[in-house]
Amino acid sequence: MLTGRSLIEPLNFTIEEMDGLFSLAERIEEDGAYLRDSCRGKLLATLFFEPSTRTRLSFEAAMLRLGGSCLGFAEPSSSSAAKGESLADTIKTVSCYADAIVMRNPKEGAALLASRVSPVPVINAGDGGHHHPTQTLTDLLTIRRLRGNRREAGGIGGLTVGFCGDLKFGRTVHSLAKALVRHEKIAMVFISPAELRAPEYITRQLEKEHVEFTETGNLEEVIGDLDVLYMTRVQRERFFNEEDYIRLKDIYVLDREKMKNAKQDLIVLHPLPRVNEIAPEVDADPRAAYFKQARYGMYVRMALLSSILGAAPGAVPDGKAAPGGFSPPGGKGAASC
Ligand code: CP
Repeated sequence: MLTGRSLIEPLNFTIEEMDGLFSLAERIEEDGAYLRDSCRGKLLATLFFEPSTRTRLSFEAAMLRLGGSCLGFAEPSSSSAAKGESLADTIKTVSCYADAIVMRNPKEGAALLASRVSPVPVINAGDGGHHHPTQTLTDLLTIRRLRGNRREAGGIGGLTVGFCGDLKFGRTVHSLAKALVRHEKIAMVFISPAELRAPEYITRQLEKEHVEFTETGNLEEVIGDLDVLYMTRVQRERFFNEEDYIRLKDIYVLDREKMKNAKQDLIVLHPLPRVNEIAPEVDADPRAAYFKQARYGMYVRMALLSSILGAAPGAVPDGKAAPGGFSPPGGKGAASC
């Protein structure tokens, strides 16, 4: 049961709970009227301390499509954070107004802190180079829809997934790799320059869980082995010096030539935004799935919001505490306002 629950990192929900969200998202995709007004009267706060197009707008689109409303800010300079207000005070205040909070913040751990002081559910929309769990829901739903096997829990398994680019700072890579570990017979290929390798805490976990993985610097050498190629941007905003960024930023460019060596049923994903790492000529290739992926992001966020707000089928009615979660305003947590 997801009613009242926060989502801070990709393993907060069980594989069965994620499977339920994917089934709900698929139902919403098939039937545009399904759950259309289920969140009428509910308010979602979107607090973005860093830039965003997809995450913020897809959450807002999701909430509006469910009949609810949104409020918030798209940059910290327009909030009282600019006057020195602490994150905890901002969250305690916003939770007096909203039924759920979606937050992006450059500090790793900021979403966890927010969830600890908030009486309403908090959804992590990216905390620094750490995690981005709703991008993971988006990625898993896209893989399931385009390459998956819906008969098994989670709907994927047996695939070879390549991650290419900035694997050090790319939070979407960290979150997806962590979530894929729970699926049967997944193999991972990490493609990056030495300076941007996946963090040790990720590779150590793969070793511990006996997940097959390799690391290489050469995309051309491995592209033919992959079922999913997850391209990523070099994260300029997380570099300590501009020279290193300039040296590394165009190290991988996926183009039509490289795609000739890929499987015919490969899918190319990218959390977006892209800079130069996928040539626009690849967009016309039927294997390019990154704009479909952006659309799946909205469906799965509709499924998530309707579930945590108690509006999805089988959810706990408003005001009743869910196991391991928080109560929405009007419920138990409202007393803190
Ligand atoms: N994928 C993603 O997080 O995109 P935005 O930065 O545009 O939200």
